[in-house]
Amino acid sequence: MPHRAPKTGTSVERMGLAHDLEALAIDIARDAGDLARTRRAEGVAIAATKSALADIVTEADREVETLIRSRLRAERPDDGFLGEETGAERGVSDVTWVVDPIDGTVNYAYGIPSYAVSIAAVTGEPSPEQWQAVAAVVFNPVSMELFHAERGEGAWLDGQRLVVNAEPSPAGALLATGFGYDPATHAGDLARVARVMPLARDLRRAGAASLDFAFVAAGRLDGYFERGLQPWDHAAGALLVTEAGGMVGGAGAGGTVSNALSVACGPLLFDRLLTAALG
Ligand code: IPD
Repeated sequence: MPHRAPKTGTSVERMGLAHDLEALAIDIARDAGDLARTRRAEGVAIAATKSALADIVTEADREVETLIRSRLRAERPDDGFLGEETGAERGVSDVTWVVDPIDGTVNYAYGIPSYAVSIAAVTGEPSPEQWQAVAAVVFNPVSMELFHAERGEGAWLDGQRLVVNAEPSPAGALLATGFGYDPATHAGDLARVARVMPLARDLRRAGAASLDFAFVAAGRLDGYFERGLQPWDHAAGALLVTEAGGMVGGAGAGGTVSNALSVACGPLLFDRLLTAALG
């Protein structure tokens, strides 16, 4: 881990906490990712469908979330939890963990090596419009890339500090998006793509929102937009982007990321991308 700037400016106590939360999230994400990868090699069983026929959960999603939740309960019993597969529980501390055990479940089920464990620690009211993310990890256990961030301390990939692309090339922005599982939403999502394409040199749909955010943070994408994200899809990734100097927003109250729209990119692209995506 490279040298980081001394902790000055805001509450030292709070920043020390964020550092500890980040370290714990990294440790748990590695174990969780190892379990996901092992289960994938053994063969994936679809456990159930959720909001739509295409919205699946595997036995591994449940097992990995149970591992993460029990590790967090053992280490930080006072904290709250909000997970994709096992639901929400309020804590008595100010911290809530927001977890997607396997983001990119459809990729996982098909054997596409683009999925990730996503873990964020947030403080305040545990709703995306009100919380403040303080620590984040997105770990792809196939590539073994671990993206992590601590509020005020930058975003990192395996010891390398991440910086968003400030400005897309004159050829246009390399963008990513995603599509909801509900077929009734596809026409609206495609209309959004049509509005955004004049800004784009090309469009990617890789299938894991947390990795889309991480790739924006790493400058592998110029921007990302999607309707229909759940809190666990964006909690960690959004902090990676802002800590890498980017902007994150959407159609939530006060322009926050929300289920209605999430946008992440460098500051010079943000207004144009948000305006086009909002329509
Ligand atoms: C999904 C992925 C996908 C995005 C969906 C998410 P899941 O998460 O992040 O890229 O398009 O909106 O629900 O279901 O694989 O955890």
